[in-house]
Amino acid sequence: MAKKPASNSKKAPVAGKPSSLVDTRVIYCGDNLEQLKKLPAECVDLIYIDPPFNSNRNYEVFWGETKEKRAFDDRHASTQAYIDFMRPRCVELHRVLKKTGSFYYHCDWHASHYVKIMLDQIFGENQFVNEIVWKRSSNRSSMSKIFRRAHDSIFFYTKNSDYLFNMQYKELSEGSLELYKHKDDKGTYQLVPLLVSGKRNGETGKEWHGIDPNKCGKAGMHWVTLPENLNKYEEEGLVFWPEKEGGTPRLKYYLEDNKGVPLSDVWDDIDLISSSSRESLGYPTQKPLALLDRIIETSSNPNDIILDAFCGCGTALVAAENLGRQWIGIDVSPTACRVMAKRLRDVCHLREDEKLWQAGRGFVVRDLPWSEKQLREIPHFEFENWAVIALGGIPNKAQVGDMGIDGRIYPISAMPKKDKGELGFMDVWYPIQVKQKDKVGRPDIDNFEAAMMREDRTKGFFVAFDYSSDAMSEIQAFFKKSGKSIIALTVKDILDEQIAYKLA
Ligand SMILES: C[S@@+](CC[C@H](N)C(=O)[O-])C[C@H]1O[C@@H](n2cnc3c(N)ncnc32)[C@H](O)[C@@H]1O
Repeated sequence: MAKKPASNSKKAPVAGKPSSLVDTRVIYCGDNLEQLKKLPAECVDLIYIDPPFNSNRNYEVFWGETKEKRAFDDRHASTQAYIDFMRPRCVELHRVLKKTGSFYYHCDWHASHYVKIMLDQIFGENQFVNEIVWKRSSNRSSMSKIFRRAHDSIFFYTKNSDYLFNMQYKELSEGSLELYKHKDDKGTYQLVPLLVSGKRNGETGKEWHGIDPNKCGKAGMHWVTLPENLNKYEEEGLVFWPEKEGGTPRLKYYLEDNKGVPLSDVWDDIDLISSSSRESLGYPTQKPLALLDRIIETSSNPNDIILDAFCGCGTALVAAENLGRQWIGIDVSPTACRVMAKRLRDVCHLREDEKLWQAGRGFVVRDLPWSEKQLREIPHFEFENWAVIALGGIPNKAQVGDMGIDGRIYPISAMPKKDKGELGFMDVWYPIQVKQKDKVGRPDIDNFEAAMMREDRTKGFFVAFDYSSDAMSEIQAFFKKSGKSIIALTVKDILDEQIAYKLA
């Protein structure tokens, strides 16, 4: 079990007015290459990205084991293809980063070496600051001929040497705390030697308060600092003089002056999100808030602008908001955009509202595919999610093998079953079937009827662009025969009623 990270953060005041350079507190839905081109040069202070990796196992992207996974597998069939995909995006990210800004690229062993070379080429080798090793898991590997792979790499680059860096500290270990065994009216302190071994000819080898360091110890000693600093310690009452004859002075080092241990580039104190954690939204690629808090606190100040161009369920945006920073998020997945919008509303209590946003509060989501034309063009699984969520339903997590049901609506009257937890409800639910088709035909309705019979549902919802007259007659015949009703909705119905806006 990793240790809890030291909390360096005091909650900063909520960010005030938005930036004059760019719109902030905005989630853009779309390919980041296109979206980034719309941003002016040198407008953001900190960029964090966590793009989908170049591996079969790790193409979990936002969705994990779903159809999107397969789409990504196909897209980045080789490391070269992955780098070719990432390079123009990183060039754009470099362009939008301020001269004093910092850039963090989160990846793992599958492509990290190639990513490092690409970033050296874009940012310049000298702009590389750190490879942060985040020990993400401690689970045991079943593979016998391999050291288990337990870390991610986060490459940290800057645009030039004039970058912001707020050092972060880890909590002191129990052993270090035990050294603080003295107490006076100023607090708890430990005694630290002011003399250390080794003769010196310079200032630190000179006599102070009648003590010649070169004559101390077996082979001579020297002061740890210059005489003027020793005098300052003395004036501040920080020098401890032993009563014992011949004892040497020591420095009183108070616990409250010790900020902790400066962080190294190995981060082993932040756990992966477990599925039972309150933070978990159930997406396999979701990163812990503590990780993003640390990056944001190190490389930005309150009201600085943070950009995440692959923002998934919005961890970087939530961390930025909580820490009083401005933020911009981009994700190609409309569902990811809606998930993060909901998260910002639920967790940060931010309102998604254009008018409020114009007044410098709240946030907005832009460029979601809301037209029929756009909805025809988004991937099928995205369309399914869009339709199910627009109806107020819950999409099936496993979209493969859904047995003719893409989501479920639980009427408000449905109550959770006792002792079964929040989702342990409910026998009352209505199935939703979604087809990204221009004309749904009778066979599609037949399949949905079979699913409704199998699940013994009295009502079901079908969403498509349109229905053939055969399909509509079948729906009527089914009702006459079984008493079960199918509500056939078109995309236009949903758009006209603005259901999607209300439920997004
Ligand atoms: C690994 S996830 C990011 C997870 C995120 N760090 C979090 O904590 O939730 C990668 C995200 O990149 C998005 N993505 C993939 N290609 C993209 C592109 N070309 N433009 C914008 N977003 C993209 C995916 O939709 C996915 O949500």
